[in-house]
Amino acid sequence: MTNFGIVGCGVISSSHAKAITAIEGAKLLAVCDIIPEKAQKTAEEYDVPHTFTDYNKMLELEDLDVICICTPSGMHSDHTVLAARAGKHVICEKPLDITKEKMDIMIEECRKNNVKLGGIFQRRAGKNAQEIKAALSRGELGKIVLTDAYLKYYRSQEYYESAGWRGTWEMDGGGALMNQGVHGIDLSQWFMGGVKKVFAKTGTLARKIEVEDTAVIILEFNNGAFGVIEGTTSVYPAQSTRVEIHGELGTIILDETEIKKWEVIGGKDRAADFAAEEHAGGSADNKAISSSGHQILIEDFIEAIRDDRDPMIPGEEARKSVDLILAIYESARTGKEIEL
Ligand SMILES: NC(=O)c1ccc[n+]([C@@H]2O[C@H](COP(=O)([O-])OP(=O)(O)OC[C@H]3O[C@@H](n4cnc5c(N)ncnc54)[C@H](O)[C@@H]3O)[C@@H](O)[C@H]2O)c1
Repeated sequence: MTNFGIVGCGVISSSHAKAITAIEGAKLLAVCDIIPEKAQKTAEEYDVPHTFTDYNKMLELEDLDVICICTPSGMHSDHTVLAARAGKHVICEKPLDITKEKMDIMIEECRKNNVKLGGIFQRRAGKNAQEIKAALSRGELGKIVLTDAYLKYYRSQEYYESAGWRGTWEMDGGGALMNQGVHGIDLSQWFMGGVKKVFAKTGTLARKIEVEDTAVIILEFNNGAFGVIEGTTSVYPAQSTRVEIHGELGTIILDETEIKKWEVIGGKDRAADFAAEEHAGGSADNKAISSSGHQILIEDFIEAIRDDRDPMIPGEEARKSVDLILAIYESARTGKEIEL
């Protein structure tokens, strides 16, 4: 049995709790939140034996194997480091953290303490995303020319006011890109094998927040392809998020988790051959996110511990989208193209 604890019983914690309780061989043993009612509510809903308001006390529970970090983004590194020092493996929500220094520290502490660190990017876990990655590795689209990500979310002013950390540089680390767009940004950089250069414009056009609610970015990927990212949290209605990959031999379009086009020279559009997956959700409502991707990543993490191998998204991999977003912010600030 692998025993889990969750720190931070807010919106996303339910995806972890649902996933853990659905896995045979996994048990949600403890939950922790500084707000006692939130910890209590999660404990009651998922039949969890231990509740805590002090994270250090939860880490004293010897039987705990894995901590799921579901606290505000700017706390991820601190909470990971404490878990690692207590000998617990860590599954950390996106973004890994919001600065390079803090990501360096958490990765290093997990390595030093011989515990595993797995990031959550549930959209990578879906079968369709995995199929795309494999096709690109086989060179099915030939030379890739353009990869574009359109990440048009709707978040109201009330959303930003629903928790004090949202929309702040200190704890959210950014806005439309660092919090919401990070999923699509991670997918495009993963599909292309990383980004070489970015040139960006960001702004706060419609919400009263410190961070960006809208951004446009020009990219040059490591494989030589060009691309754009458009990210926002201020358009109504929200659009389904899309990643469009165009090569000299074919095109694949991923719309949320659904393949909308898969057409290669000389063949028909095979989009209909790919099964529909549970919708990843979240572009219109942050409370409507499916737990199926989380479940795949958590099941993989349990196997990674058992087989002593890397999880599907190790810390070094989870940080790439954050490094990219930090370069985008630097470009927007300086007006210069930034090399990664
Ligand atoms: N994978 C996804 O699709 C997805 C979706 C939403 C949020 N997230 C990420 O999950 C994280 C949390 O987001 P959320 O929307 O659930 O936020 P939230 O504000 O709803 O929940 C955060 C919780 O952490 C608690 N907390 C704060 N400090 C604490 C501490 N020191 N000890 C214990 N608990 C503490 C708060 O009381 C709150 O209940 C963020 O990093 C966010 O980016 C990921």
